[in-house]
Amino acid sequence: MQVSISDLKDHVGQKVELKGWVYNSRSSGKIKFLLLRDGSGLCQCIFFRGECDQNSFENFKDLSQEACVRVVGEVRADPRNPGTFELGAESFEILSGSVDYPISPKEHGADFLLNHRHLWLRSKKQWATVRVRSEIKKAIIDFFDGRGFTNTDSPIFTPNAAEGTTTLFETQYFDEKAYLAQTGQLYAEATAAAFGKVYTFGPTFRAEKSKTRRHLIEFWMVEPEVAFADLNDNIQLANEMTEYIVQRTIKNRAEELRILERDVSKLEKVKGEFPRIHYKEAVEMIQKENPDFVDGNDFGAPDEAIISSKFDTPVFVHHFPTAIKAFYMKEDPEDSKYCLSVDMLAPEGYGELIGGSQREDNIEILDAKIKAHDLNPDDFAWYRDLRRYGSFQHSGFGMGLERTVAWICGTPHIRETIPFPRMYGRHYP
Ligand code: 4AD
Ligand code: MG
Repeated sequence: MQVSISDLKDHVGQKVELKGWVYNSRSSGKIKFLLLRDGSGLCQCIFFRGECDQNSFENFKDLSQEACVRVVGEVRADPRNPGTFELGAESFEILSGSVDYPISPKEHGADFLLNHRHLWLRSKKQWATVRVRSEIKKAIIDFFDGRGFTNTDSPIFTPNAAEGTTTLFETQYFDEKAYLAQTGQLYAEATAAAFGKVYTFGPTFRAEKSKTRRHLIEFWMVEPEVAFADLNDNIQLANEMTEYIVQRTIKNRAEELRILERDVSKLEKVKGEFPRIHYKEAVEMIQKENPDFVDGNDFGAPDEAIISSKFDTPVFVHHFPTAIKAFYMKEDPEDSKYCLSVDMLAPEGYGELIGGSQREDNIEILDAKIKAHDLNPDDFAWYRDLRRYGSFQHSGFGMGLERTVAWICGTPHIRETIPFPRMYGRHYP
């Protein structure tokens, strides 16, 4: 019977067939070990001279790294690692060979590994990271679907900039110009008026001409948008979503987080209400350690690290200066110098995971901001309609999937959090 490695627990004592690839092999005299991977997990297959088929024992050296094989044997509990299972192997058959596999267990440079990303994904830590990513995506969808949200997809070809014109990817759309979506938000604002509580979830694009540990050119973002929600409701939603994702992932992906050597006790603290601080308080915190920081400026990565170092959970910073934020954010009616915006900073220095705001619902103020940001009002005619026909209080935010995966996995660089990263200077493979 053919089974997958993740199902071995249900077949203890039975003879089964596994199909997979050679992860590793080693011999010591009468006993030979094949570490097999099949995508669902890893399994130690043990060949004992006298107990297994003689040909298999003699030809064991043919099991080169990443050869595709079929192994038959009996499932038994691994006496050294409770809860894991091994195969008392009988025989193997090579289904297809692998000669000089380029990624050996020795250390390789980042460039080499990225050039071989199509193969690197087979390595244990990469496998674990992508499995965690997949769980987080599912958790996000379940969170919103379980709360009466409607998933409304937003287009990738768009006529306008939403997050500043400096990071726009321009492309040809037949005889016209189009831009790859930097965000699905403006469309989510339209669907919020049609469906109430909505979210978009898909790839977004930013032509960031910089190489950092936190920026990708193509990244995934989940963007809820809620009719009749204010800034506080928005912060509460982000708080609950983050707790749900983290707690569910540590429960459902314990093995992967163990492979990644993640200190899960840090993630266990991501519960309850996270601290919420005004931009002005954040500035005071930063200036104690970085006196050069200018009140009114946006935070750099080191400034964010100063703030997050004070807390064990993510922290919300709200009411950023209007001047440094996007045109669609609503000004604070009490002090238009600040806007009803919020960022969520991750603990352990992972930086901004979430950015959001209450939206400007007053058409005169919105028009003035479109102008002040040097945007073409014609491109926003449809968006202005949302303020002309039953304008409504609404709020939303965007969470970057890859930064979230990096934080939960404890992965220092964002490039490992998506199967095929697009970075400045790299779009191969
Ligand atoms: O703060 P941002 O730019 O906000 C928006 O795009 C809003 N329209 C969202 C909304 O209100 N619906 O981006 C949101 C999040 C960031 O906090 C970050 O996690 C991620 O998207 N992000 C990136 N992730 C990877 N690479 C990049 N270049 C990113 N730029 C933003
Ligand atoms: Mg932001």
